Amino acid sequence: MTLADRFLAYSAQAAAEGSPGWAELAAGLAADEAALAVVERAPESRRQPVLVLATCRWLDAPPGPWPRLRSWLLDHADAVVAELGRRAVQTNDLRRSGPVSLALARLDEPVALLEVGASAGLCLLPDLVSYRAGDVRWGDPQSPVKLTLDVTDGRGDAAPGGAGTGLGAVELPEVVWRAGLDLDPVDVRDDAAVAWLRALLPPGATERADLLERAVALARTAPPRVARGDAVDDLEALAATAPADARLVVVSTGTLVYLPGRRRQQFVDTVRGLGATWVSYERIGLLDDVGAVDPALVERTSAFAVLALDGRPLAVGDAHGTRLTTVG
Ligand SMILES: C[S@@+](CC[C@H](N)C(=O)[O-])C[C@H]1O[C@@H](n2cnc3c(N)ncnc32)[C@H](O)[C@@H]1O
Repeated sequence: MTLADRFLAYSAQAAAEGSPGWAELAAGLAADEAALAVVERAPESRRQPVLVLATCRWLDAPPGPWPRLRSWLLDHADAVVAELGRRAVQTNDLRRSGPVSLALARLDEPVALLEVGASAGLCLLPDLVSYRAGDVRWGDPQSPVKLTLDVTDGRGDAAPGGAGTGLGAVELPEVVWRAGLDLDPVDVRDDAAVAWLRALLPPGATERADLLERAVALARTAPPRVARGDAVDDLEALAATAPADARLVVVSTGTLVYLPGRRRQQFVDTVRGLGATWVSYERIGLLDDVGAVDPALVERTSAFAVLALDGRPLAVGDAHGTRLTTVG
């Protein structure tokens, strides 16, 4: 995929997600050789459209329309390239706790939760969130953070009480320990660091911004520990600090795409070597060790990600974990 193609694809995604502003900018950039050449000066790993647009915004670029941003970008090319070298996509989307919680509900003993690519650790609080799908509710009913999921039973038969969701009663195990690992952790207590999380959200995504504020406020009441380290190289050492009498659950959501292919397999092998349970919500087709899902289901539901427990697919869904279809 060329860089122009990546911007075009992001433009379509932003439009579909209700962010016409970034859709217009991404489409403009995709068709502009001089602007693409600026982005190409950044390291290969730092050219994601969302990172480029968030970085421009961080540097106080005009919000649009494209011709205004274009002339700003060409005038500030050196600053943008330098900032891209310092920044990473650290979007911390607490909505992915929805699918993760459904996988955790399959476990019935106390768990020690270890998330790789945890960013600010907002997804390390799945037990502190209130969830609802149809008539089914789970999590902490008193939580200030409420998530509504659209869950459909891919087999077409509704379970009792689930009213079409295919979910029965959902009960989460006790989380007795939690820790994250990230190449570049975001300190949830640091206002400037949280401002970067906000900058990564497309303008107009007011519900996401509101959820981020709530999630940050919740996390600040008991900040989850996020250690600096690599998902493969430093996993074993962090896992060794988990209590031995809880089931170790390693979670990855929207993170393994940032690892080169060979490293993804090393991550899976390391998790297996630890004897840990593995919960993943990652892009479909990214991991050889996640069982295949029916392509017809993926197409019918326009699914992007697959929820898996120890590599066994449980559901497919959108990138954010709000719309899920369970698999048999
Ligand atoms: C898109 S964010 C996802 C954050 C969180 N899992 C979520 O779903 O909201 C990806 C995170 O992975 C981190 N990351 C990327 N490569 C990594 C690696 N090799 N080891 C640990 N963390 C990594 C990034 O710094 C970033 O915070």
